[in-house]
Amino acid sequence: MSYVVQARNGAELNRFYEEDLLIHDWYRFVLSYPPHLVQNYLHKFSVSKKNCVLDPFCGTGTTLVECKKHGISSAGIEANPIVHLMAETKTSWDVDVSALVNHADAIAKESILRIKKYSDNLKTLTKEQENLIIKDSISPMPLHKALVLLEVMDEFYDSRFSSYEKTAFAKHLVFTFSNLKFGPEVGVSRKKKSDVDVIGIWLKQIKEMAENLAFSSQHKNVRSVVYLADARDMEITLQPNSIDTVITSPPYPNEKDYSRTTRLESVLLNFITSKKDLRKHKERLLRSNTRNVYVNDTDDRWVARNGRILELADSIERKRIELEKDSGFERLYHKVVTLYFGGMARHLEELKPKLRPGAKLAYVVGDQASYFRILIQTGEILADVARDLDYEVLNIDLFRTRLSTTTKDQLREEVVLLQWKG
Ligand SMILES: C[S@@+](CC[C@H](N)C(=O)[O-])C[C@H]1O[C@@H](n2cnc3c(N)ncnc32)[C@H](O)[C@@H]1O
Repeated sequence: MSYVVQARNGAELNRFYEEDLLIHDWYRFVLSYPPHLVQNYLHKFSVSKKNCVLDPFCGTGTTLVECKKHGISSAGIEANPIVHLMAETKTSWDVDVSALVNHADAIAKESILRIKKYSDNLKTLTKEQENLIIKDSISPMPLHKALVLLEVMDEFYDSRFSSYEKTAFAKHLVFTFSNLKFGPEVGVSRKKKSDVDVIGIWLKQIKEMAENLAFSSQHKNVRSVVYLADARDMEITLQPNSIDTVITSPPYPNEKDYSRTTRLESVLLNFITSKKDLRKHKERLLRSNTRNVYVNDTDDRWVARNGRILELADSIERKRIELEKDSGFERLYHKVVTLYFGGMARHLEELKPKLRPGAKLAYVVGDQASYFRILIQTGEILADVARDLDYEVLNIDLFRTRLSTTTKDQLREEVVLLQWKG
């Protein structure tokens, strides 16, 4: 099997190899990068067990899990609380697996009894919760069963097992219990699931997780920390001079709203209980779409002298005026570009004191054309931004290309390789 990253179209580079799925598959984004990409850069940067790897936009934890599988310490930063919990669970391997399965068994038995007992009176979400999720995300019967399961999980709460139980719940809530589909944007299927074996599927998932953990026990004590924080503001998070390698994939400026992708599980697991909560979470995210741009945003200051970014933002605004596009979102397109690259600049500046001299960094980013089809060469521009901040640009590798649904062009997804000399 080859793990060489090559410029190839098609399914091959998006594929997850069977052995890759172990633990990664507990919960992952549809578009998270494949573990073999991480393996490739661990190898390319000659990362050893003495090193520490950081993923400052760690999402569901692909980099961290892969490091742990190779006995390498790692740290992650994630600003979305539900995703942070998932990454933390996926890197916590030191648990009594038979006690976990027994605990889950007891929850499942009690849930089945209660589902029968309440069958004439289905449990539902509150009005406020309903307003936060996408309409018809989940049908009444699977929702009822999911809410009963949560009620019992709450009553049987045990801090040793809770995060595994929630992770198993979140995964199947999204991919099995709900009517959601990802293409890659989240939407609702026309065909609704009227009923699902919620409890059986959840319990099976816990058992699979326990098997994975038994299999991976050799590396259970390898250090991995996941911070719930903003990678543009790292004052409190990492020790100075502690990071040898960064392997990460930040959001791209492409109108993808990460908080929407994870809304259903965030609401059911009480990470978001109101619109105010939602806004608080979104404010911590890098600005990559018009749904999280706010009047007080100032990250554009960081690229105020970068002619290439200003020209790009200007060309998007000129195009809007030429096309007579006038919606509130369209008026913000040019703003996303300056705030996005400004946010990345702030992140790279904040990162410097945490890096050991000689540290190598890999940023996976994709070109975009979401704003009036104007090409945003994310990798090239990010390399410019890093150069301006005194990072050395080692190379820009082509990872893969993706078909743009708007322009029908192949857009490049690249890995920007940097070095911090110190
Ligand atoms: C492209 S995804 C990363 C996917 C990841 N490689 C994985 O394996 O799942 C980008 C992640 O960055 C997170 N994020 C966005 N802004 C952030 C910020 N300011 N600080 C930390 N994380 C952030 C998003 O919530 C999202 O989970």
